[in-house]
Amino acid sequence: MQDCHKSQKIALCMVGLPARGKTYISRKLHRYLNWLGYNCKVFNIGNYRREICGTECDKSFFDSKNEQATKARNECAQMALNDLINYLNSDGEIAIFDGTNTTKERRNMVQCSLLQQCQNVQTLWIESICDDADVIQNNIRLTKLNNPDYVSMNPEDATKDFLGRIKMYEEVYQKIDLDENLSFIKLINIGEDIQIHKVKGYLLSKIISYLMNLHIYPRPIYLTRHGGSTFNQENRVGGDCDLSQQGIQYSEQLGKFLLDEFPTQEQRNQIHCLTSTMKRATHTADIVCNILKINYLQLKTLDEINVGICDGLTYTQIAIQFPEDFAERKVNKLTYRYPRGESYLDLISRIEPIIYEIERSREPVLVIGHQAILRCLYAYFHRNEISEVPQLEIPIHAIIKLTPAAYYCEEIRIKIDPETGERKQIEEDLQITRINMLTKKKSYILL
Ligand code: F6P
Repeated sequence: MQDCHKSQKIALCMVGLPARGKTYISRKLHRYLNWLGYNCKVFNIGNYRREICGTECDKSFFDSKNEQATKARNECAQMALNDLINYLNSDGEIAIFDGTNTTKERRNMVQCSLLQQCQNVQTLWIESICDDADVIQNNIRLTKLNNPDYVSMNPEDATKDFLGRIKMYEEVYQKIDLDENLSFIKLINIGEDIQIHKVKGYLLSKIISYLMNLHIYPRPIYLTRHGGSTFNQENRVGGDCDLSQQGIQYSEQLGKFLLDEFPTQEQRNQIHCLTSTMKRATHTADIVCNILKINYLQLKTLDEINVGICDGLTYTQIAIQFPEDFAERKVNKLTYRYPRGESYLDLISRIEPIIYEIERSREPVLVIGHQAILRCLYAYFHRNEISEVPQLEIPIHAIIKLTPAAYYCEEIRIKIDPETGERKQIEEDLQITRINMLTKKKSYILL
């Protein structure tokens, strides 16, 4: 990452009873930090336990009075920790230790090992506390029942066993105490209350604000480019031109599409619509929001990539007038910065507050943006590698609907014909793409 103090390493260690969203938080942090360009990895103790002890561990395996199992569990935690330390001592910048870490003894062991074996490491403990029975039940249903530990068990028995497992942990659970002298954040009932202690430094403060904006309420996020512009027709970059006739038509069709998505005015009033300050985007938002009878927010942060000295040129003109720049951008589009303009890496830093804004929103979000900006935003939700960002496909006259869920993000892409209004789902017809947040594998479910 460009602004990371390279020698500074960070360990983020989770704490909490099972089904308190620790893995959810770990994955979100992993995605966010990777998207920012940090080398970041999650070390999930449960995965080590499954690998070493198998998946046939019922609740008795988690009983602290079961000495053999406790020894095995401690060994798994130690192995995960050793791998984490090796990672931080090589090219890893941020490591996430995802486990329950429910006792002071365990936390002390982790903290001491990190300090002794890792150079220049800062540790932040993240404790998730939740006593809302509905949230816990929901979490078990959405995440635990599909977990390899329970694939061969019926949901009722699996839930019963899992609640039994939680009880075993409750018997030994010690919440983080001030006397442990740790840097920590406590997230209580998913953001209802937050406690922060001894957190210092730029990146940790960033992580804290990110965590403060998280919630688990599902809501769709719509991404669309502005309607086609006169510059799009001429293949010119930059500028601040207006919509083409087709662009106006698309904007009208987009408004109609959203009317169908949100049939009542009450629903439409919930939409959080964001756009840039550029003419082509605000004109699109004007048309759409006039149809929906809602307001929109104009943000400079969402303005298209600044192409500097290439403003107003076609790609062919750039190749002729600035052949070296053209060639350099072709080779490394991610880091190439237009003279007096921006690179894709610059854009990622610029739009970071938008990620917070979208994460924070519990209402549907509509972003009417630009190609390069939307590539960066989309990559965050889709978990693309940072190197893939400049090549992502964000077609014109199409809307991408993303619905983030606990461990995956559903995606539907719909192409809208500006003239006829015909809507066509792109790629897999009548299917929703589910992107697993950890494996990035796609699976498909019928609508
Ligand atoms: O062509 C439309 C546009 O939004 C330009 O304004 C912008 O410079 C370009 O796309 C970004 O795409 P790329 O990085 O592929 O040139």
